[in-house]
Amino acid sequence: MRRDLNLEPRLMAVAGFVPAGRVVADIGADHAYLGIWLVLRGRVPKVVATEASAGPAQRALKNIRRYGVEDRVEVRVGSGLGVLCPGEAEVLVMAGMGGQTMISILESGGRVLEASKRLVLQPMTGAGKLRKWLVSKGFRFLDEVLVEEKGRFYEVICVEAGTERVDDEILFEIGPVIWRKPDPLLRRFLRQKLSRYRQLLKMTTTMANSENPGAKGAAQAFREKCEVLEAMLSCLPKSEG
Ligand SMILES: C[S@@+](CC[C@H](N)C(=O)[O-])C[C@H]1O[C@@H](n2cnc3c(N)ncnc32)[C@H](O)[C@@H]1O
Repeated sequence: MRRDLNLEPRLMAVAGFVPAGRVVADIGADHAYLGIWLVLRGRVPKVVATEASAGPAQRALKNIRRYGVEDRVEVRVGSGLGVLCPGEAEVLVMAGMGGQTMISILESGGRVLEASKRLVLQPMTGAGKLRKWLVSKGFRFLDEVLVEEKGRFYEVICVEAGTERVDDEILFEIGPVIWRKPDPLLRRFLRQKLSRYRQLLKMTTTMANSENPGAKGAAQAFREKCEVLEAMLSCLPKSEG
């Protein structure tokens, strides 16, 4: 039986926001490594690892048996929060899926979502839209962190029920806590975003010059984004990042 499980930094950051002693539901668990790690370390007593489809659920089961944690990590097959009973998991984790998928899952979360105490979310895309949705539905940011793996940045967002005021639209995209701290990776994260928006600005400006309808508006939006990011970068302390 194996005990030597090391999580990748992205999942370590997710695990870092899971409070000790709580029952966790890992939605879209796939390999189930997060849940296995949490129970192997004695951090939590039980994890419900859910999967939408049979293939990943089989993979989860195989790993759970390999690490001998069948008594503490349970696999359930079904979409979203529909496989959980209200109140059985205080902490809901969703990692490695798109922000829009997370919103759809939470939208239909009903009483399971209401009864949960904390959400730990690691969206692969659409973090800004997800943060905006969370704030509009009465969640506040408890903490956030950036993780870098092989040149790619991952955002991990931890929320609970509460009121949040986000003063500036760009903070939905950057993360209000990531900005406030500031996260040690913030400068590099902003630079990467700025470089992407500059590329988009260049593309849309070329399209606008060749009379492409709509490109002018898009170019203007990207120009404004670049200006905001440049201003944010200039506000950061020089030693950071
Ligand atoms: C890329 S994997 C991420 C696995 C793991 N959470 C991680 O972060 O490494 C995303 C998983 O989410 C599952 N998934 C997607 N939509 C889902 C849904 N509505 N309910 C449950 N699982 C879902 C997919 O089957 C897939 O295995």
